[in-house]
This record gives sequence, C-alpha cells and structure tokens, in this order.
Amino acid sequence: MKKINRRKFLILSSSSAIATLITQCSIANTQKNKHFFSSYPQINHSQNGILEIDLTANFHQINLGNKQAYLLNYNGQIPGPRLEAKPGDTIQINFTNNLPQPTNIHYHGLHIPITGNADNVFLHIPPGDRLTYQFQIPENHPAGMFWYHPHLHGLVAEQLFGGLAGLFIVRGDLDEIPEIKAASEQFLVLQDFALDQQGNMLPSQELSIMTGREGNLITANGQFNPNFAIPAQGLLRLRILNASTSRFYRLSLEEHSFYLIATDGGALAKPIEMSELLLTPGERADILIQANREPGKYSLLNLPYERVGMGMMGRNVPESQPQVLATVSYETKVAAVPLPTKLIPVPALPKPEKVRRFQMNHGMIPGQGMAFLFNGESYQPKRIDTQVQLNTVEDWELINTGIMDHPFHVHTNAFQVLSRNGKPEPYRAWKDVVLVRPGEKVLIRMPFRDFAGKTVYHCHILDHEDLGMMGNLEIKA
Ligand code: C2O
Ligand code: CU
Ligand code: CU
Repeated sequence: MKKINRRKFLILSSSSAIATLITQCSIANTQKNKHFFSSYPQINHSQNGILEIDLTANFHQINLGNKQAYLLNYNGQIPGPRLEAKPGDTIQINFTNNLPQPTNIHYHGLHIPITGNADNVFLHIPPGDRLTYQFQIPENHPAGMFWYHPHLHGLVAEQLFGGLAGLFIVRGDLDEIPEIKAASEQFLVLQDFALDQQGNMLPSQELSIMTGREGNLITANGQFNPNFAIPAQGLLRLRILNASTSRFYRLSLEEHSFYLIATDGGALAKPIEMSELLLTPGERADILIQANREPGKYSLLNLPYERVGMGMMGRNVPESQPQVLATVSYETKVAAVPLPTKLIPVPALPKPEKVRRFQMNHGMIPGQGMAFLFNGESYQPKRIDTQVQLNTVEDWELINTGIMDHPFHVHTNAFQVLSRNGKPEPYRAWKDVVLVRPGEKVLIRMPFRDFAGKTVYHCHILDHEDLGMMGNLEIKA
C-alpha cells in the first residue's frame, strides 16, 4: 500500500462515513449448533514438566451464569480452561477449530518463541482443522498471569467478544513468598457480552465497532456477581484479567484499599497501596486485600470511566452508576496474615540503543473509509513496520494525537514505562499493555530477548486492531 498522506485524513464526523465498517459475515448471524454443555471450571496443571491439553474452540449453547447463551467457547466453558505451568515446562496444546470461521491462538504476555507452532499470530487454522501448539516456558520465565485468545487479524474483536479467552498462569518465586502463600488465591476474568432475550449474540453497530464494542452484560469468571470468601484478618489474593474486547474497568472495593503486587509481566519490588485501579483490555493486576474491616459483604465495583472524548457524536456515554462485579464476604477468622514487605526485584533496564516514535490516531482513507493508524499507516500483513535487533534495548515514545484512549500492547517482550507526559513513573513494573490517552506521550523501554522472528504490536481495543491499528515487528537475530 502506498504511504498515506496524513493531510488527507479527516477526523470522522458523520456516521455515513463509517458505513463501510459493518462486518459482513458477523458470527452473530451464522448458524448455531444446538449442543448443550454444562459449564464447569477446568484447571490443567503441568505434571512432570509437561502440560498437555486438548483444546477445542466451539460455537454452541452454554451456561453463562444463570443464562443460556450461544457463545464462542474453549472446551464448553467461559472463560476457557485455566492452564498452569512452571518455568522449564513443555506445553502441548492439541487445538481443534470447531468454529464456522478460521482462528488461531495467541499467548498474551508469555515470553516464548514467535515462530513455528508457538506464539505465532500469523498461523491460520481453517474451520474444522487441528493444530498442535508446542513450546517451552523458559527456565528464567517470571511467575505471572498470562492468557490466551484468538489473534486472526480482522476477526480478533468478534471472537473475543464471543467469549474466547482463558488464563495461562506461570508459577514461581512470587507464589513462594510466605505471606502470598498464606493468602487465599482467586482469579477474576472480566468479560462483557451483548445478548438478546434468547441468548443469541447481538450484532454490533458500526459506530460501537469504531469506538470499540461493549456489551452491557458483565461477567466475572462467566458468572454474574460471584462471591469470594475472605477469612477475617486474612489476605485475599485477587488476580484480575480484563479479557473484554474494549471495555475498561475502573475497580474499587467498598471500604478497602488494596495492594498491587504484580502487573502484566510479573511481580513488583514491593506492594503498592491503591484505592482504585484502572484495567484496560489485556491488562492484568494481582492485588492483595486485607480483611481488616467489620466482618460483612463488600462489593467490588466498576466505577464510571470515559474512554472516548467528547465529539464522538455523544456515543459511549459512560454508565453513571457504579456496577457490582463481584462480592467479597468475610468468613471465619484466621490468625492475622501480615502484608509482605518485599516482593521480587524489578531491575532497571540499560540505556536504549535506539529511540522510536509511534503516533496513534484514526482518520479516513479516501476511498477506503475509516482506519486506525500507527504513524499514519493502517496495518498491512506483508509490510514490516518496525525492525529491531535481538539483544538490544529500545525506547518507544507512544503518542496519542486522536480523541480516544488507546491501550498499546506489544507481544513477546515485556517493557517498563519510564514516563508519562515527561513525568517519571512512580515505580518500576513489567508491563505489556499501557494506556495512552488523547494528548499523552508515554515513554516505554523494552529489551528484545531470546526470540527472533516476526510478531506484532497493536491497540488492545481489538476493534481498533482489526481496523488497522497494528504494526508488524521484526526481531532480527
Ligand atoms: Cu492480547 Cu496481540 O494481544
Ligand atoms: Cu498479546
Ligand atoms: Cu485503540
């Protein structure tokens, strides 16, 4: 594709201009298989260094909380099975695509090979086909919360919005810290859905696709307002994933502050106290909650947040009321568990070999319609946008000159955020998604380690990704 002249872009201002965005063959309109599967929590741990699992992507009726719904799912459940492994383990996923569309799997946040049948987002698995994913978790892989989801360009938003996502946990040093071991551990996968009365997926409106589709049914682990028990005086370790296509969660727990112990890529050096937490799509947060209030029930709330600026035709007006996502209930008292004071060191990265700039925006491509762009370019599968050298460190300056929030994500290597609008970050953390708001300039530092090949970076509002806000990254050996 020819380089797009930036002056030719017009900020989108009429809905007719985006009529071209309507997804032609939306899965919401395709035929459903009328199988019934009861939903049960499936956890697969590695054994003797091996994790082997049969994983099937389906489109059929399942239980979503107390509702029957026709959704996309892995192994009949939403969210998909939770996989747990340790550094050094070999993973084998025997995948079957029973969807009426092609798909593939991305292992979000894992530091694993990007070539062959590993974390290769360029694989294409047609309907009815099988593929065996195989890779090893490096011996020095950090402990943390990662996840898997489809990543076939053009269908990513639709397939995540249909329900396809599962956790991939790497166990390690963080889990062995005595106070953390003593905490009761729970996982919280946040997803939203748009269903009609019969439990069929509602087709998304073109305008909501442009801002990023959201559904008004919010589930936590595929349930509505699940309950988490916490022993009075004890600690609850809540490990949260935003697996929504576009929805942001601004979390707070009634009458409690919480302590952030790990972010996307693993542990912090010490817990950070917070009263609320913004989790954009793809981001994870591992928090400790201290049960030191009056015994009772407390709501985990989603507070309003506006991620689309004014001028977007009055759409996406945020819910003005907090929504209850889950409930934390005090239980029988245990001996008080203190908070850990020290976690895992987060070393500073060496000075960068190179500094690059990525401008995020959207506009109209004459004759093509609406596009979401990096440096004025819409995604082209065959073009290499960014070439880096293995075993180097780079600084990337992420600039949002548009009017919508964009959570920037890069595959394979975690990064550290250095500053936001020139203001240094208050603490070091390993991240793989970082929010860049309109007008912001976020500076990140990233090492390219171990794995050469081709992968991608993109906005994790997955409609934006499908609409072109993605680039190919080549890591050269
Ligand atoms: Cu979770 Cu390329 O994304
Ligand atoms: Cu990813
Ligand atoms: Cu975006």
